[in-house]
Amino acid sequence: MFKSAARSFSTSPAAAYKVAVLGAGGGIGQPLSLLMKLNHKVTDLALYDLRGAPGVAADVSHVPTNSTVKGYEPEGLEEALTGSDVIVIPAGVPRKPGMTRDDLFNTNASIVRDLAKAAADYAPNAAVCIISNPVNSTVPIVAEVFKSKGVYNPKKLFGVTTLDVLRASRFVSEVAGTNPVDEHVTVVGGHSGITIVPLLSQTKHKNLSEETRDALIHRIQFGGDEVVQAKNGAGSATLSMAQAGARFAGAVLNGLAGEQDVVEPTFVDSPLFKDEGVDFFSSKVTLGVEGVKAIHSLGELSSHEEELVKKAKETLITNIKKGVDFVKQNP
Ligand code: NAI
Repeated sequence: MFKSAARSFSTSPAAAYKVAVLGAGGGIGQPLSLLMKLNHKVTDLALYDLRGAPGVAADVSHVPTNSTVKGYEPEGLEEALTGSDVIVIPAGVPRKPGMTRDDLFNTNASIVRDLAKAAADYAPNAAVCIISNPVNSTVPIVAEVFKSKGVYNPKKLFGVTTLDVLRASRFVSEVAGTNPVDEHVTVVGGHSGITIVPLLSQTKHKNLSEETRDALIHRIQFGGDEVVQAKNGAGSATLSMAQAGARFAGAVLNGLAGEQDVVEPTFVDSPLFKDEGVDFFSSKVTLGVEGVKAIHSLGELSSHEEELVKKAKETLITNIKKGVDFVKQNP
């Protein structure tokens, strides 16, 4: 009610935004909720989890920014979602040492499917940002669920690959002795292992030795393992991921608010390689008032990057099919 009132008196589309975080009690969800509370575009923050969200909400609500915060347990999912402009989903289990993201599929596929069903029913127009792994498969799962309910809008579904972008900036700066704030690396493909392709040839570091380049690319692709190993069974990246998720959700909000030139790499329903059977692909995307405004092509690639993209596409086809098949077999 507050939201529609605020909107009707406003001349700007940026008047009021409701953001729902599903999985808000978790390792990512808690700091992500805090960072969303600090985003001044957010006027309504709905924090949902199977357990713990009311506590997180009470805590975060004391941060003095101009938004209401409410925590919800399972019976409140409909209310949490209703009226949401952006839904961010970090619900699900994280990796333990030795696991790949694909090993999470069996548990997380059904969690994401069920949350997608609720989102399709209660907030079919929201922009949905998927953090739960394996992103290469969970994004197609959400698409299939939305299609089955007749509300699929490919412009409003995003796999969050921003952490790969942050890691690329950080790791390249360590190699080059530069300030990571000044490093902007486009990362394309997907979000796991060899599907993560940083386009170093498009940065000022295109003349690295082959050995340094390969080590850097490997670190960007498998940087998540460093955190999984260091946490030693206690999970995967949560704090850096929260920062990445908040940056991406913030970019989506900036786009919805009509800001210009909002560009982030993200894993979307993409025309780039559809003719080769790759229905989802991450590349730079301009975000706008309708969600996806433009999907950028990859630009000029080195022959080495061409090879990496080729391998990424092969794995992506399998990962995407796995998500699609899961929903067909377990509707
Ligand atoms: P966590 O175990 O600390 O938190 C997950 C939360 O999800 C828990 O609070 C749990 O109660 C909740 N949850 C489980 N099922 C739910 C349901 N049906 N509805 C609502 N909430 C539910 O895990 P963490 O570390 O926060 O990771 C979450 C996910 O994010 C994992 O799948 C992980 O692999 C993924 N991730 C993704 C990254 C990316 O770059 N996209 C980076 C790091 C992690």
